[in-house]
Amino acid sequence: MPSNQQVLINSLPSGKLQASDYRLADAPMPVPGDDEVLIETSAFAITAGTRAGLQGSASYAGAPKAGIVMNATGVGRILESNAAGFNPGDTVQAPTGWQTHCTAKAAAVSKIPPQDDPIAWLGPLGINGLTAYFGLLDIGRPVSGDTVMVSAAAGSVGHMVGQIATLKGARTVGIASSNTKLHTLTAQLGFAAGVNYREDDYREALKAATPKGVDVYFDNTGGPILGSALFRMNVGGRIACCGVVSQYDTDRPEPGPKGVPGLLVNKRIRMQGFLVFDFAKRYEEARADIRKWLNSGEMIMLTDTILGLEAAPDAFVDLLAGGNVGTRVVQIKPHPAGVV
Ligand SMILES: NC(=O)c1ccc[n+]([C@@H]2O[C@H](COP(=O)([O-])OP(=O)(O)OC[C@H]3O[C@@H](n4cnc5c(N)ncnc54)[C@H](OP(=O)(O)O)[C@@H]3O)[C@@H](O)[C@H]2O)c1
Repeated sequence: MPSNQQVLINSLPSGKLQASDYRLADAPMPVPGDDEVLIETSAFAITAGTRAGLQGSASYAGAPKAGIVMNATGVGRILESNAAGFNPGDTVQAPTGWQTHCTAKAAAVSKIPPQDDPIAWLGPLGINGLTAYFGLLDIGRPVSGDTVMVSAAAGSVGHMVGQIATLKGARTVGIASSNTKLHTLTAQLGFAAGVNYREDDYREALKAATPKGVDVYFDNTGGPILGSALFRMNVGGRIACCGVVSQYDTDRPEPGPKGVPGLLVNKRIRMQGFLVFDFAKRYEEARADIRKWLNSGEMIMLTDTILGLEAAPDAFVDLLAGGNVGTRVVQIKPHPAGVV
């Protein structure tokens, strides 16, 4: 009898996340109920926001607790369907979690069109791509000629923000933790400049990389990088608050930066948070644009692939330490057609 292999939360982290906060388990194969499908997971994304869920600082990430399967968006193939519109063999995106099989309600499942690479539904066509798209275009609102600064720029959301900003005619400056990452941004992805926030001369280097100031700052990190951006913002600038990854992997998040609200007032800066789910009705509009950019080669999808379900805990710990370039994906099983 085939079983469902899972990675369970062993204990909620105290301090920094450890791989030992997870454990492997075998469970019986789940059985789909009414309006549900049974999915065999091919791959799932490891994303920074799920660490905020474990910290208890992200209501949208549910309420993770010890003993349950770690949450994630995945892609896979339907094995059984009790839901209208879904058939065995369909390739889908769903909240699979870190496990080889799951059941899901039809409303939570999206069919992946045959022309799309399913892995793109974990990156540019998935939650992080949509976050980059709406956060930049609807909240940051860059116009041609603007300087757009983005933090965690070599990560999943960040590398797409920078490329979309460049496509819109902005001059894009990425912030990341290593010169290798910065080289990828400028040599491969069209960023105009990159700045290493771990170097001692970071503030001076940021100033040199943004000679005309910053019009839009896309904030993935909060913390000291947000502090540095505030002092580079131009009058009328926009800050899109996407996430606070510098403060997730700890029990003691730091208070917000200096300059709020003083700099916001003096420079008439709009600083706005958003959740991608606010834009759910417009996902297909965004996907149409992103698909066009991917197909034309104007946008490059960087995927950072890790093999094997059992590798997921270490892959998550490593992502929080900056080990990923692009979207980190755990590949469980190749698709029979070789697509996923
Ligand atoms: N608002 C929404 O609806 C929404 C939706 C999805 C994601 N998000 C947010 O988007 C952000 C990026 O998520 P992601 O899934 O794309 O992750 P990611 O950027 O692929 O990975 C996390 C990155 O964070 C950086 N990082 C870690 N600790 C840091 C620190 N102390 N200071 C600065 N950078 C640090 C690392 O890059 P370096 O090597 O450069 O340090 C690492 O690669 C997160 O804040 C997440 O919560 C928001």
